[in-house]
Amino acid sequence: MCGIIGYIGNKQAYPILIDGLKRLEYRGYDSSGVAILNENKKTSIYKSKGKVSELEKYTSDKDVCGKIGMGHTRWATHGEPNDINAHPHQSANGYFTLIHNGIIENYSNLKKRLENRDYVFKSETDTEILANLIEYIYIKGKVSAEMAVRLALTKVVGAYALVISCKNEPEQLIVAKNSSPLIIGIGQEEYFIASDASPIVQYTQSVIYLNDKDIAIIKRDEFSYKTIKNDILSPKIEKLNLGIGAVEKQGYDHFMLKEIFEQPSSILDTFRGRIAADFSKIYLGGLLDVMPKLIKTKRIIIIACGTSWHAGLVGEYLLEEFTRIPVEVEYASEFRYRNPIIYKDDIVIAISQSGETADTLSAIKLAKDKGATVLGICNVVGSSIARETDAGVYTHAGPEIGVASTKAFTAQVTILTMMSAMIGKEKNIITEDKYKKLILELISIPDKIKKILLLNERFKKIAAMYKDANNFLYLGRGYFFPVALEGALKLKEISYIHAEGYPAAEMKHGPIALIDKKMPVVVIATKDKSYEKIVSNIQEVKARKGIVIAIVTEGDKTIKEIADHVLEIPKAEASLVSLLAVIPLQLLSYHIAVMRGCNIDQPRNLAKSVTVE
Ligand code: G6P
Repeated sequence: MCGIIGYIGNKQAYPILIDGLKRLEYRGYDSSGVAILNENKKTSIYKSKGKVSELEKYTSDKDVCGKIGMGHTRWATHGEPNDINAHPHQSANGYFTLIHNGIIENYSNLKKRLENRDYVFKSETDTEILANLIEYIYIKGKVSAEMAVRLALTKVVGAYALVISCKNEPEQLIVAKNSSPLIIGIGQEEYFIASDASPIVQYTQSVIYLNDKDIAIIKRDEFSYKTIKNDILSPKIEKLNLGIGAVEKQGYDHFMLKEIFEQPSSILDTFRGRIAADFSKIYLGGLLDVMPKLIKTKRIIIIACGTSWHAGLVGEYLLEEFTRIPVEVEYASEFRYRNPIIYKDDIVIAISQSGETADTLSAIKLAKDKGATVLGICNVVGSSIARETDAGVYTHAGPEIGVASTKAFTAQVTILTMMSAMIGKEKNIITEDKYKKLILELISIPDKIKKILLLNERFKKIAAMYKDANNFLYLGRGYFFPVALEGALKLKEISYIHAEGYPAAEMKHGPIALIDKKMPVVVIATKDKSYEKIVSNIQEVKARKGIVIAIVTEGDKTIKEIADHVLEIPKAEASLVSLLAVIPLQLLSYHIAVMRGCNIDQPRNLAKSVTVE
């Protein structure tokens, strides 16, 4: 994880770096630091444990003048969060200064080799080892800084996004990437380097997405781009098409709240250009080339982590219902380490908001090596997963900055619904009528979400009643089991209350033992084919004095009589209700966490983009 930012140009670097670090703080927030090259070609490094605001305080009386610099916000992997382990790191003789996002896997070997050559390390980080490896090659080989970096990187196993400066060649920054994200923004005689577009968008829309094992040598007036093996490349300049509003809170107290309220419009953005004007057809351009394979495949495997995995579970129900293709949903981290059976005609779908999750990325590589066709459902355009997959579809939900995922989930489920309908139609599993009805139902979802959002104050009142609970149970059946898991995850992530999601019928095989008068049980109990059964499950909870908060279909009278609280959501086609039922759960978690004084957008120990395995 970690966020990195760099600047070289004619403006003062410090404000750009600090502003960038604040925008990247969602990636890691246990310590941060900056390095700035001043007019006398001296590099000043300032680091501080804690959030970027601590760094700002620490630097308030320091000299931060200079037009070249780099900054880093850290999520600790090697070494505890403290000032020494914070980046930037400098090589022992001060030749190289660098920041790093990723993990050097063979750090221990490299460290031993350097220790044998009398190198001594101040920090516990893998990054300091790399800084010294570069320096060692630079001094020993009497080569240029660029060459020392390239040679060092050929010896590195692992993931990195790097910004490097050399004291003897001060007017340049060297950047390199492998499996961790890195973007270069191009301004007027200035360049911005960052982990993602959020710190760049206010300065320029022209960007280069670095490819793995590529390196760029950046001066104010010169830019060269090559592989680490020194093959010269011509960079592909792309347009961001992102407004600054997309990465600001725009009056909301937290990004998470903004993102919850954005869902009616983010789902419309997911539809955009993909549903015919007369609502007769779904058109996912990214799937057209692979449609013949999708129609023939005997199996789909979905791989993902976290909330994206929950979306994958909803996808399993959707794909099996509408396409009759058997689907398996796997945690990417489990899938890749258990020698999975993968056939050449399997279709693997990788789901990821960030497009950078290390486990998902490695699982994709494994599936590709075994000959499967891999599709991606990603939110971040140009991300590693989007580029690693054979084909795919962007969710276009816009930047998601709150660490707890909300609008990405509904966008992913929207894409999975569209995908299922499109394949089901091609395979003649669903009729023309059913297909059109599904499209009409789908396009009515944003307005139905708007209606649910109007009930925000009511969710807040219920949150106030249960904010001090120690445990929560979430129950759902069928399509709502993944929603129960997602509701529990949201609560855990941001309020630190222990919560479990369970298939409602399984409750009696264990969790029922936990139920007493202190246990709030959130049940997704909208009208569908298992309605009667879920009503029985609610009775079972009530018989043990549990507190039932039920998500019900508008106008439901039966559950109103038994549950302690009912939260009504509009009626919708059963396969689409997960898009609605998740909204009250997101808001409930949000309000509980606010009332408990938690850090909503940056919960402890978590990071938005998990680029370590
Ligand atoms: C982290 C985030 C979660 C996210 C998961 C998977 O744990 O905090 O919100 O669901 O990673 O991330 P991805 O970007 O692959 O969807």
